[in-house]
Amino acid sequence: MSALPGSEEGTAVTGLDSSPVEPAAPDLPPLTAQTEAEAREIMARYPQARSALLPMLHLVQSVQGYVSPEGVGFCARLLGLTKAEVGAVATFYTMYKRHATGRHLVSVCTNTLCAVLGGQRIYDAVSADLGVGHDQTAADGSVTLEHAECLAACDYAPVVTVDYEFYDQQDVESARELVAALRRGEKPLPTRGAPLTDFRGISRQLAGLNQHADLAAERAAIDAPSTGAPTLAGVRLAAERGETAPPLQHPEPEAAPEPDVEPTSGAGETASEQAADTAVASADTPAERAGAAQHHPDAPEPAGRQPAERGGEGTDTPAAHTQSVAGDARERDA
Ligand code: FES
Repeated sequence: MSALPGSEEGTAVTGLDSSPVEPAAPDLPPLTAQTEAEAREIMARYPQARSALLPMLHLVQSVQGYVSPEGVGFCARLLGLTKAEVGAVATFYTMYKRHATGRHLVSVCTNTLCAVLGGQRIYDAVSADLGVGHDQTAADGSVTLEHAECLAACDYAPVVTVDYEFYDQQDVESARELVAALRRGEKPLPTRGAPLTDFRGISRQLAGLNQHADLAAERAAIDAPSTGAPTLAGVRLAAERGETAPPLQHPEPEAAPEPDVEPTSGAGETASEQAADTAVASADTPAERAGAAQHHPDAPEPAGRQPAERGGEGTDTPAAHTQSVAGDARERDA
């Protein structure tokens, strides 16, 4: 049985609130002309503008603290996508928040290794102190709490991150003190990585923009320690034992397959076809030649891709169509 996200039926099936995003608060900061200029700066980094969707969603979060309905429309308008397509992406990844986020996002790893070493006890204690559960924000707006799957730092378990910065080898008391300090407005230094900012600051960085107020802050982030003893334990033991890694074997590079497209004489061709012919003919290596041929207007469609029928409105795969239909129904119901 399938149910539309946001429908009562969907909530009944999953037992969870399946609404895609929370309605905007009246005091939500607006997405300004400056935000749009920065979004366009991000879009310009990609050969196809729609590839900029993920960092643009982080940009929206850096301004508004979550992916608001306005943010969904903002991305859709600039990228020529439907709101349903943007919503499908924003609701797939857990880093995109569907509710207003506190000043800091505290993530407690409760996955296997951290759980065995006390991660669940840490989560329970912090949850009790804050008076909130998973994906909820303390009443003072200071902290949003979430339990997280493996944070890719198992050698430092149990791990807590704040705004995705690491606080390693925590226990119940150290984690409670960490959260208490955040609520007092302090920013304890992470164990590794850049100094702490806040959720909106790190969202700006994830959008690929500078979040630092000045050069000194930027320098401090770059120069921050990036490794710790557990990560280096293997290297240290190998050095003590005089062990070295075997030399790397370099296999012969495989010849790139010959492209199907051959340059033609040029008679009767459009300017873009002639430019594509020139790119194929002037490629220095087989790989470059294959790459140029792939973008040739006469190149065959890759298997599984259907010709676009809806212009800039998105892909035509069955899955995307289903999401689009679902999203359109959502928009209609809204
Ligand atoms: S299990 Fe917690 S970081 Fe991997």
